[in-house]
Amino acid sequence: MVFGYPPELREKIRIVEETREERLKQVMKRLSLEERDQLVRKYHPDYRSDTKRPVRIGANRGEIIYNEVVDLLEAWPAENPDDVDLTQIDYDVDLLIIGGGGAAAAAALWAIYSGVDPSNILIATKLRFGDANTVKAQGGIQAADRPNDSPARHFLDTFGGGHFANRPELVKALVRDAPFIIKWLEDLGVMFDKTGEGEMIENAGGGASRKRLHAARDYTGLEIMRVMRDEVWNYGVHIVEFQPAIELLTDPETGAVSGAILWNLETHEYRIARAKVTILATGGFGRLHLAGFPTTNHYGATADGVVMAYRVGAYLRDMDSAQFHPTGVAWPEAILGELITEKCRGLGAHLVNVEGKRFIRELEPRDVVASAIIRECSEGRGIITPTGKCGVWLDLPLIDIINGPGTIKRYLPAMYRQFKRQGIDITREPVLTYPTLHYQNGGVAIDPWTHVLNKEEEWIHGLLAAGEVTGGVHGKNRLMGNSLLDITVFGRRAGITAAKIIKETTTKPKLSLKHVEKYMAELEKLGVPRTRRAPRILPDYRGKHVVIRSLFIPY
Ligand code: FUM
Repeated sequence: MVFGYPPELREKIRIVEETREERLKQVMKRLSLEERDQLVRKYHPDYRSDTKRPVRIGANRGEIIYNEVVDLLEAWPAENPDDVDLTQIDYDVDLLIIGGGGAAAAAALWAIYSGVDPSNILIATKLRFGDANTVKAQGGIQAADRPNDSPARHFLDTFGGGHFANRPELVKALVRDAPFIIKWLEDLGVMFDKTGEGEMIENAGGGASRKRLHAARDYTGLEIMRVMRDEVWNYGVHIVEFQPAIELLTDPETGAVSGAILWNLETHEYRIARAKVTILATGGFGRLHLAGFPTTNHYGATADGVVMAYRVGAYLRDMDSAQFHPTGVAWPEAILGELITEKCRGLGAHLVNVEGKRFIRELEPRDVVASAIIRECSEGRGIITPTGKCGVWLDLPLIDIINGPGTIKRYLPAMYRQFKRQGIDITREPVLTYPTLHYQNGGVAIDPWTHVLNKEEEWIHGLLAAGEVTGGVHGKNRLMGNSLLDITVFGRRAGITAAKIIKETTTKPKLSLKHVEKYMAELEKLGVPRTRRAPRILPDYRGKHVVIRSLFIPY
């Protein structure tokens, strides 16, 4: 194994070093909306004709969606309804929260603050509580809480960054709640970066017209999850780990969602959970590796929530778009696709091609920067890695040159360690980077209080959703720092809404899989092979989609 850079790359690093002084004098031009659009249309994977196809079933029938997601929507349930005994209820609660990340934790806390008894809440999660994209979020959380900024400005940045495809009322909720959320998190114990005088340090993020990123070094998501998770544990909420949901249940009389089938990953047995309200907080789809890209996502990010919600009639928004973070690790191979936080570019690191030239203003929105990197590589101005991949340089030592020695170790300790383990010292050496699949921009349609919507924009009763599983908040491209904000703003709103519904619901719901039977009839008509099952639960790196043995025995 190569430790550190091999000689042929060291040779190329010299060009980066030699051009630093000149580059520092250069001011990169902000692209016009037309220029951004042209670049993205030409190079972004969202615009490749081979990455997507129309889905043939469900509320989005006829609409274009990424192939890997369509494969899951046009798939048979993991468990045959005929084999499920719905009379045996294993968990009977007021509130079922599916997922184990930040949105789930925020929802649980705000349900409790709003009057739901903690002993009447069940969190069911695929891996451990906290194994989620939340803990991998590094750069920060946006909130317009300075005199030179405003929620209106934050709204415009978010809306523009999303190519104006966002649902305005969701963006309004996001930006308006943001300052309150920062205050809440701080009161709860999140240790945001501050100056010696106790002022919040606020950083620049791509596509943002003001510095409004609040960070905890480059462990922001981990820090936020640490605090929220502790708080959930303190309340004694019942958490079942390694038990992902594989299907929602519906009341046969009202059609409302009434719980879920959980799958015990250890015993390979299902469990039935009944609930007055179910909150989907299952996260995104990075581990589907759309268009063959590596990903920054945690191991469980396989779009389960989207699959389950779709089968009960939810409408999906913007599933024709995905976020490829511009700066994934391109080399060393051992950490391929891992995140190099945008905070690096916020602190001044340049993107540099093989000729030692900058080729894009580093803080353009993510899809624009990603497209520019793909352009450099496809036009022969990238650097070929020892494993035959392509990348461009991210000149990280500039951060200490611009902001003073010690900045990297102080504000980017995760980045420093990630590369140090591979023999690369980012205080002295640049790194190779290429876009990596980072975020599910779209997802299950919701209203501002997180009710899941069908195509006619009516509520699917009993079902709420928050966080990356949802669509509409970010349009076709999310801005940095808006995902930690999304999970806390809409997680909170889901908890409050759930409490309201629970107060108004006096009877226990009934359980059925009627919606699945209907869906199966459609699959039969389409001739979908019976071996194609969803949700997928875990990614498959063995060349075929077989993951949980007993889930895939043909019924
Ligand atoms: O670049 C980053 O640190 C990622 C942040 C985000 O996706 O919000």
